[in-house]
Amino acid sequence: MKTFTVGLVGCGHISVTHLQAWQKTAGCQVVGVSDLSHELAQKRMAEFNIPTLFPDLDTLIAACDVVDICTPPQVHAWMAEKVIAAGKHLIIEKPLVTAVADWEKLKANLRQSGQEVTVIHNLKFSHSVQQAKKWLDEGRIGQVIRIRREFLTSPSSDRMLVGNGHWSHQLPGGRWFETLPHELYLTHYFAGPLALDAVSIIHTEQAPAGASADEVVIVLKDGRSLATIHFSANCEQNRRVFTVQGSEGMITVDILSDFATLATLKDQKNRRVVGRPLLEAGQTALRAFPDRTAYLQRRRRKDTPHSHLIQQFGHYLQGQAPPPTPLAEVDYVVRYCDQIGQEIERQLAEMRKMQNDV
Ligand SMILES: NC(=O)c1ccc[n+]([C@@H]2O[C@H](COP(=O)([O-])OP(=O)(O)OC[C@H]3O[C@@H](n4cnc5c(N)ncnc54)[C@H](O)[C@@H]3O)[C@@H](O)[C@H]2O)c1
Repeated sequence: MKTFTVGLVGCGHISVTHLQAWQKTAGCQVVGVSDLSHELAQKRMAEFNIPTLFPDLDTLIAACDVVDICTPPQVHAWMAEKVIAAGKHLIIEKPLVTAVADWEKLKANLRQSGQEVTVIHNLKFSHSVQQAKKWLDEGRIGQVIRIRREFLTSPSSDRMLVGNGHWSHQLPGGRWFETLPHELYLTHYFAGPLALDAVSIIHTEQAPAGASADEVVIVLKDGRSLATIHFSANCEQNRRVFTVQGSEGMITVDILSDFATLATLKDQKNRRVVGRPLLEAGQTALRAFPDRTAYLQRRRRKDTPHSHLIQQFGHYLQGQAPPPTPLAEVDYVVRYCDQIGQEIERQLAEMRKMQNDV
């Protein structure tokens, strides 16, 4: 097995999950890191026993076979361009870029060099999402007729909504652009490339700086299925739920507890006496014990969606697996992130103009 040297740039929050994942990836070794903050880079070096602090991206690229980009998305495009130009392997956090024009340029360079890009679409690799996809593929819920994604949060539980200085606030659509790739690739995974139908926003008086549009609903559809994505900055419950309604049943994935449930009971008069929600809760409870035990074991082993994705990337490097993120999925996500982000900004500008005109 060939050993690939890995260099990671951007030693902030998510770098820890990446470095844990690289430690589990056979045939890959993180040889160095880089960050504008040398103090932070040195912290990660000490935590993960990494030998080299690269002073800048060029030095890192020159010394490594694989570059792992964990910086804010605003600097992804030029960084990715350098990695591709040097002919090195690229793995990069989502959102891949902040504008579709940057993606077009990158895509042309990738085509020319015959390289692939792996974007961290990690939720696809979570236990609960994999379980949900298995149920769907087994035909347990029939045809997908509706997808509902809820990302309902508030500044009390979302570090990116705190204050007015986080880099996500400067993205098109603000903080929502940071998470939107997750919503779009999940929809794509379960229902294919649904087309954008509508974006509807509200700006309330309590909107935090990072989410001027503090309530957003996005509608996607094709001739068979409808999907909605709801972002809220006003929900103290912190709900992150993904529901797939099929013609014969429903799957609900609670993203934060990595728990999927399947509801396939048909309506019957005698079931109404007990109540279908109660009967379904009983079925869920039977699955809960082994599922929760496995969840705890995964947590102890630091077995994360990132580690599954990065391990598949390692297999891809060895020629033993396809790249973890197909180009069609990446393309879909980048295009709609751009359109939706721009549409949120357009509606906010219109609201501000109307307020100023009054
Ligand atoms: N997949 C997920 O579940 C997930 C979760 C959190 C964050 N992310 C993504 O990961 C990326 C980073 O997010 P984060 O929360 O770790 O951010 P962060 O702000 O905690 O860390 C970013 C780091 O990048 C460094 N940096 C910025 N510009 C740089 C440059 N030009 N050269 C070198 N270093 C530079 C900063 O100093 C900082 O240490 C973002 O794209 C974010 O959307 C993904």
